[in-house]
Amino acid sequence: MTEKLSVSAARNESAIGKNAKLQGWVRTRRDSKAGFSFIEINDGSSQGNIQIVAPGEMDNYQSEVKSLTAGCSITASGEIKESGGRGQATEMLADSIEVHGWADPDTYPLQKKRHSYEKLRDWAHLRPRTNTFGAVARVRNCISNSIHQFFQEQSFLYVNTPIITASDCEGAGEMFQVTTMDLNKIAAEKIEKLNYRFDFFDKPSYLTVSGQLEAETYACALGKVYTFAPTFRAENSNTSRHLAEFWMVEPEMAFFELPDNMDLAESLLKRIFGDALSRCGEDMAFFNERVDETHTLLERLQNVIDSDFVRLPYTEAVEILIKSGQEFDYKVEWGIDLQSEHERFLTEHHFKKPVILFDYPDTIKPFYMYCNDDGKTVRAMDVLVPGVGEIIGGSQREHRLEVLERRMKLQDLDIEEYWWYADLRRFGTVPHAGFGLGLERAVQFVTGMSNIRDVIPFPRTPGNAEF
Ligand code: 4AD
Ligand code: MG
Repeated sequence: MTEKLSVSAARNESAIGKNAKLQGWVRTRRDSKAGFSFIEINDGSSQGNIQIVAPGEMDNYQSEVKSLTAGCSITASGEIKESGGRGQATEMLADSIEVHGWADPDTYPLQKKRHSYEKLRDWAHLRPRTNTFGAVARVRNCISNSIHQFFQEQSFLYVNTPIITASDCEGAGEMFQVTTMDLNKIAAEKIEKLNYRFDFFDKPSYLTVSGQLEAETYACALGKVYTFAPTFRAENSNTSRHLAEFWMVEPEMAFFELPDNMDLAESLLKRIFGDALSRCGEDMAFFNERVDETHTLLERLQNVIDSDFVRLPYTEAVEILIKSGQEFDYKVEWGIDLQSEHERFLTEHHFKKPVILFDYPDTIKPFYMYCNDDGKTVRAMDVLVPGVGEIIGGSQREHRLEVLERRMKLQDLDIEEYWWYADLRRFGTVPHAGFGLGLERAVQFVTGMSNIRDVIPFPRTPGNAEF
C-alpha cells in the first residue's frame, strides 16, 4: 500500500520501510556520475527537506527528471529508506516521479542564491517557499494556536468584534475611513461639506483600531473574553515595528484590576514563548543559527521564560532614564511619551529583561483608562521586551461614569457618540481591565526577525498594498 506522507513525516525514522508518495517543490537537483540524481524537495511541513534518489532507469529520467530545477512541483513515489547522508535520517528511493509544474530557471525568482529580505518583499507570493518565510509561517501559526489554547484553557470566551466601527478607541485619529461615496464625483463637484446621509452607514465609519470597547461590553456581561482579529492604523510611520494592518489579541476581564492584568499578560507571553521553543524546535534552531546574529535567541527566550518581569511605575522609569546620563535623541522629562530609544535602554541595558511600565501620565493615554487618585496618572501598562520594545499595551478601565465623562470632555470626545460605552458604567458597573498583544510584535520577538514586514504574509504599510 502506498501512503501519502508529508515531508516532515517521511523524515522521521519511523517512516523507514514504508511505500510512500511525497509531494512538494524541488529545492535542488544534483546528478551523480553513476547515472542517477538526488532531488531535494520541501512541502512546507518542516524546515528540513527530504532527499529523493531518482534512478536513471525511470521512464522519464532523461526527458524530465534531469531537467528538474528549483521551484518545479512533483509527486515522487517509492520506498522510504534509511539515509547514509549526513544530517538526514531518511531518504526516498523513488520508482516514479510525476512533474506537475515546471519553473523556468531563467525567470523563477527564487534561484539558489540568497536574496535579501527586502528583495523578497517584492515576491511576497513566492517567499513562503524559502526556508526563512516557511519557518516564520509555522512559528506564527504556533503562536496563534497557543494564544487560543491559553485562553480557552482558562475558560475565556472568544468573541468577534466588528472590523467597521464609528468609534476611535485609541483617540489618536489614525483611522482609515470606510465609505461608499464616490470620491471622484465629490472632487469633480467640489463638494466641501459631506452629507453622510448619503453614505452607507449614515455616519462617518472607519476600520477599527482596536476591538477593546466592544470587548468591554461582553466582558461586562460574560466575565472573561478575548478577541483575536485584524486591526488597522493609518499612522504614517515607516518603522520596523509598525504596520497599517496588524493582528491583535485583546483579552478583557470583569472584576480585574491592574495587577491581575499584569499577571495575565506575563503568563500569556511566557506560554507562547515556551510553546514556540517546545513545538517548533527545528525552526527555532534555524532562527538561532541563521537569523540571529549573536546566536543567542534560544537562550534569550529561555531567560525571559524563567525570569520575573520587572514592574516599574512610569515615574521611576523617568528617574532611571534621567539619572542614566545617557544621551537620547528625545530629552526625557516627566510627562513625555517614551520613545523606542528609552524603552530599549530600560529593557536592553538597565534591566536586561522584560519590563512592565505602569501608571502613565493621563495626558499621553486614551480616555478609557482608570484615573489614579494622584490626579495626574492613569492605570495604564505597557509590556516592553528587549529588541522589540512595546509588545503589549493595556490598562484598567475607568468604570466610574463621572470620571469617564470628565476625561472624555478633556479629550474633546463626543460623549453622545459613546452612549453605549457609558451605559456599561450606568448599569452594574464593575472594575475591569484588559490589554492588547500585537501578534506581529510577538512573532518578531520569538523569531528574532528584525522587520515587522517579514512576519506577516502580506504587509500593509504606507504606499504598499500589493498582493
Ligand atoms: O497599545 P495599543 O495601541 O493598545 C490598544 O489598542 C488597546 N486598545 C489594547 C487593549 O487594551 N485592549 O496596541 C496594542 C498593541 C501594541 O502594544 C503593539 O504590540 C501592537 O498592538 N501595535 C502594533 N503592531 C503593529 N503595527 C502597529 N502599527 C501597531 N500598533 C500597535
Ligand atoms: Mg500602546
